Amino acid sequence: MIRRGRILRKNNNIRDMISENQLSMKDMIQPLFIIDGKNKREKIDSMEGIERKTIDLQLKDIENLVSLGLRSVIIFPSIDERKKTKKANEALNPKGLIPKAIKEIKKNFPELVLITDIALDPYNSDGHDGILKDGKILNDKTVEILVKQAVLHAKCGADFVAPSDMMDGRVYEIRKKLDDEKFNYVGIISYSAKYASSLYGPFRDALNSTPKTGDKKSYQINPANCNEAIKEVLDDEIEGADMVMIKPAIFYLDIITKVKSETYLPVVAYQVSGEYSMIKNASKNKILDLDSAIIESLLSIKRSGADLIISYFTQYIAQKKIINP
Ligand code: PBG
Repeated sequence: MIRRGRILRKNNNIRDMISENQLSMKDMIQPLFIIDGKNKREKIDSMEGIERKTIDLQLKDIENLVSLGLRSVIIFPSIDERKKTKKANEALNPKGLIPKAIKEIKKNFPELVLITDIALDPYNSDGHDGILKDGKILNDKTVEILVKQAVLHAKCGADFVAPSDMMDGRVYEIRKKLDDEKFNYVGIISYSAKYASSLYGPFRDALNSTPKTGDKKSYQINPANCNEAIKEVLDDEIEGADMVMIKPAIFYLDIITKVKSETYLPVVAYQVSGEYSMIKNASKNKILDLDSAIIESLLSIKRSGADLIISYFTQYIAQKKIINP
């Protein structure tokens, strides 16, 4: 006898009843690009529909997003070129853009889960996540600065710090220092498996943070590898990460699935800027339908095992109400 699989696809209600994965605003995290000043917005050429905005304008967006069910944002600063130095000093400026943004956002939205990125590339004149000396990225020197950056963000009110630098031992050092400074309840979402991907181009465009020399292959993972990613996740877990992240998402669904089976920590997937722009441009060129491509891409990430998704499409799908609140 043949099994008639189509019985379960007969109409919308049946399809809904047996749907194995759902997208919900509770799973989504909105990335925001922040610039200095007031009432200013700037388009990003390679990311149509996404803008860098000053804190006051981002607060308005957040208000709208919160009313649509958003629980969490992750913020990135676009720093004036003149403030970038080889030692990334601006990363530790207590009056800098991110400290200001954290305080403003938490003052207005105390319940919103605020995540900050820990890395030096937005502040570094070399465009690298760590300190560059004689063509090499200095691991331990970089970690010293990252620890201070994390404590600064915690002091300002961040709920989670998210080290995206891929330096060795940074999760352990950040956890230790946060505890020493009595920020026991500030968590760490580690970008544990961050690949040396071609898909970060539009983000680097947004922050003007493309490395001036070389590439990031001495710290980010080789796209050919899987075991290495699992090892990084397990190490970060031991070092004290509260959640682990895989990045990018759709070229790395196998990694998400494997990581999910190797850890009981919540797994976050980052649908990065290049993934956003691929879908956006394909739809603009009438190659595919935007809304269904977005939903399909996000569902694939959920299905692969991600608990949470960082996506630049969050605001769009929330406003269009093509996602559960
Ligand atoms: C850098 C950082 C990057 C992203 C998040 N943090 C880019 C990079 O490693 O060059 C990429 C995010 C995206 O492409 O959307 N610390």
